[in-house]
Amino acid sequence: LHGTNKRAAEILLGNDRGGYTVPSAKLYPFQWNWDSALVALGFSVFDPDRAWQEVESLLSAQWDNGMVPHIIFWKEEKSYFPGPEQWGTTDIAKAPPTSGITQPPVAATVIERLLAEDIDAHRDRAAKLLPKLDRWHQWFLDARDPDGRGVVAIMHPWESGRDNLPDWDRPLSFVDTTGIGGYHRRDTDIVNKDERPKNNDYDHYMALVRFGRDCNWNTDIIARDCPFWVAEPGMNAILRRAESDLIRMARCLGNDDIAARATARFARLDAGFELLWSETVGGYVTLDLRRGEHAIGLTSGSWLAMFAGPVEPARATTMASTLTHWLDQVEHGVPSFDPAHELFDSIRYWRGPVWAMINWMIATGLIEHGETDLAERIRRDTQSLIDQSDFREYFCPVTGRGGGGTDFSWTASMSLYWAA
Ligand code: DGY
Repeated sequence: LHGTNKRAAEILLGNDRGGYTVPSAKLYPFQWNWDSALVALGFSVFDPDRAWQEVESLLSAQWDNGMVPHIIFWKEEKSYFPGPEQWGTTDIAKAPPTSGITQPPVAATVIERLLAEDIDAHRDRAAKLLPKLDRWHQWFLDARDPDGRGVVAIMHPWESGRDNLPDWDRPLSFVDTTGIGGYHRRDTDIVNKDERPKNNDYDHYMALVRFGRDCNWNTDIIARDCPFWVAEPGMNAILRRAESDLIRMARCLGNDDIAARATARFARLDAGFELLWSETVGGYVTLDLRRGEHAIGLTSGSWLAMFAGPVEPARATTMASTLTHWLDQVEHGVPSFDPAHELFDSIRYWRGPVWAMINWMIATGLIEHGETDLAERIRRDTQSLIDQSDFREYFCPVTGRGGGGTDFSWTASMSLYWAA
């Protein structure tokens, strides 16, 4: 490897903690779920064995109920908040402790790609992971869609992986934060506070952690009573995509049972996705399931509808032209939130900045809908941001400046695997 790719590989190796990779050494010093899955793609470019280890270690932390947690606290590390004591999962997760929520299940999509690189070489490893993926995907429908609507809910903004999206502002306003406070955030010791969620957001995040911990992460109670219960296009698109990749993998490995179960789940998710379509907005948007309200704006998650599966041609055309209009308003795409919206904030985490791995997913979906020029524009934007500002967590769409964590694993991975 040379140049940018060499440096990207060095970042992955530097963040390797022996079988799992931390997203960024200071800011996120444990294994994160979707970070890890996406990082495996980068490793696959120069060390396929290490790529498999990454997804194997992630899935080894699966709970008995099927959930794969969003953080795995492999080692004690005081520099992160909230740590294991706040989550209170020690009895459930056994060892090591974990958080009590999940994250977008991009793992099956990644593993299908690792397998396709060399089916004979990787068949056994993939076959071992298949039942874990099947149980995790089933957990999503059982725990997060118990009414069978065909969309899965998140019970915490962190579950979406897109923590401070404007979509959560209103649903979070119904969450009681009485008695929350007196905790010390660690993220703003490391990163400029203008690039992170606000303290008021954190109070709500902690109130939801308290809610989950108080009910011992009981999924029936969460589904019935959690004050934050929202279906959003990013999570639902990634899950739907993951089911179709799981079907393909199960067929390839001759596991008819899993192929049949994943096919049934895919059909339910495919039908349910329609609930996220808003005629008013002209796109797929977040739905607050407690209040039956659609969000009023598009986010980068909206474009993942094309990653989820076939979008009907008229809608796909509308989406491509709206996305082009977004890109025309900023220097670098794809912003995480509508750049023309009053709540757009170019450097604050998920309220504006560009994220390399979301760009990869959007571009993949665009190519599958014949929008190759747009996909190429996004790929070039991604690499030019990295060239300009290094492997940062995310980038300002207006100036190209980097934000958040440095030497960031999934940015390095996406550069290696896709953009460079
Ligand atoms: C954080 O700590 O900011 C993470 O996004 C939670 O997953």
